[in-house]
Amino acid sequence: MYRITGRSETSGESVSLKTVTDSKSKLCESDYSINTIWIRYAIETTYYTMPATGPGTFGMISLSGICKTYVMGANHVRALDGIDLTVEKGEFLAVQGSSGSGKSTLLNILGILDSFDSGTYTLDNTSMSNLSQLQAAHYRNRLIGFVFQSFNLIHHKTAVENVALPLYYQGIARRKRNTIAMEYLERVGLAERAQHKPAELSGGQSQRVAIARALITRPSLLLADEPTGALDTETSEQIMAMFKAVNDEGMTVVVVTHEAEVAAQTHRIINVRDGRILSDERTDQ
Ligand SMILES: Nc1ncnc2c1ncn2[C@@H]1O[C@H](COP(=O)(O)OP(=O)(O)OP(=O)(O)O)[C@@H](O)[C@H]1O
Ligand SMILES: [Mg+2]
Repeated sequence: MYRITGRSETSGESVSLKTVTDSKSKLCESDYSINTIWIRYAIETTYYTMPATGPGTFGMISLSGICKTYVMGANHVRALDGIDLTVEKGEFLAVQGSSGSGKSTLLNILGILDSFDSGTYTLDNTSMSNLSQLQAAHYRNRLIGFVFQSFNLIHHKTAVENVALPLYYQGIARRKRNTIAMEYLERVGLAERAQHKPAELSGGQSQRVAIARALITRPSLLLADEPTGALDTETSEQIMAMFKAVNDEGMTVVVVTHEAEVAAQTHRIINVRDGRILSDERTDQ
């Protein structure tokens, strides 16, 4: 797979115009009509192609000057204080920092679960500023899988029904979504637990169900907030192995963690303190 990209005449930014299977493919008129700014530049002779997957090719996340303050009566808590961060497609990174440093706030903004006060957030070439609730839900469902420390499974639904839930929101019929959910349960090694409810599952099994639920929409971005925080070491390793496997397939993965061993398994570690990025380093993974 290749992407044909052009460059804006006005801002000079690179823009993705078309995904093709053959690097010799050419653009036609309709390919540029998405945004007239690009038309004059993206003439047939100036296109170039790049692989559509793999790290370092296209920005997945771009945050600039993100600030977020929680107001509780007279009390103001500045949870994020000017976050600048770029994450390329296919990266696997950890966000570390002490309790209260702003990790969950950052992840919730990345996951379009929470709003921000100022700054810009671009996700997969789309601005995430001032979205309506409907638009936010649309992008979340299309682009993002979210895994929580406390699993957030629905207690009265079975494992397979929990995994299938995102497909219900996409309007997929029950039989089809349950068939797909079974495939994802198999992938996380839990097919035989499909009819069990969360109360009948261990912590590690519950988290694997939650991961299957996060993956079923085939998101571009997987976000996990302390996914191993409630689990023993061996189960944590299984969960991290699953994240590594989906990252190897090209998915961008961001994990918030307190645990240095967990962070060390990713490719890049961001340290957050008092709502700011303190350091941003590559690991030797
Ligand atoms: N809904 C909220 N209302 C008010 N203050 C909040 C809210 N959520 C978070 N905060 C405050 O914002 C700051 C950052 O919180 P956040 O949850 O992002 O920290 P964290 O790094 O995820 O911490 P932990 O490691 O304990 O999960 C903290 O001071 C917290 O008390
Ligand atoms: Mg947190």
